Amino acid sequence: MAPTEAAEAKVLTREALPVRSEDDVVLVRRRARELAQRRGFDGFAQAAITTATSEIVRNALVHGGGGEATLEELDRGGRAGVRLTCRDEGPGVLDLERALRGGFSVTGTLGLGLSGARRLVDEFEVRSAPGAGTTVVLTKWARR
Ligand SMILES: Nc1ncnc2c1ncn2[C@@H]1O[C@H](COP(=O)(O)OP(=O)(O)O)[C@@H](O)[C@H]1O
Ligand SMILES: [Mg+2]
Repeated sequence: MAPTEAAEAKVLTREALPVRSEDDVVLVRRRARELAQRRGFDGFAQAAITTATSEIVRNALVHGGGGEATLEELDRGGRAGVRLTCRDEGPGVLDLERALRGGFSVTGTLGLGLSGARRLVDEFEVRSAPGAGTTVVLTKWARR
């Protein structure tokens, strides 16, 4: 394994933002972009973390009844990263496997939110249990 990959991810900053309204979704989205810019992400990587954040935070609002988003600036062996942790205490994702495959949506849209977000980032984890809410953790690393 390359030394950079073996290094621990260091958390440089951390901020928690509420997810209670559509305005909050816009704010978290904007903040993700600001952090990506500050960490020196190129345009593609900025767009990726911004779009993924927006989809996941909107899901927490629409499907999870709201929750909390935490954004972190990371450094791993000199490589810049941004991580989103989004929690809600909603009903949980009923069929997670199907939801992650994409094309499944209870709201009648294309249902590319979860699967699209997963493709846009480098690390993606969903923890969800019926009645126990949903937590999504995703990380994007700057390209070298
Ligand atoms: N935070 C969440 N809580 C409960 N269910 C969720 C959550 N996020 C996603 N889901 C479920 O996964 C499905 C797929 O999500 P997504 O791909 O974003 O499509 P959409 O939001 O357009 O329905 C949703 O329709 C919903 O059933
Ligand atoms: Mg969605």
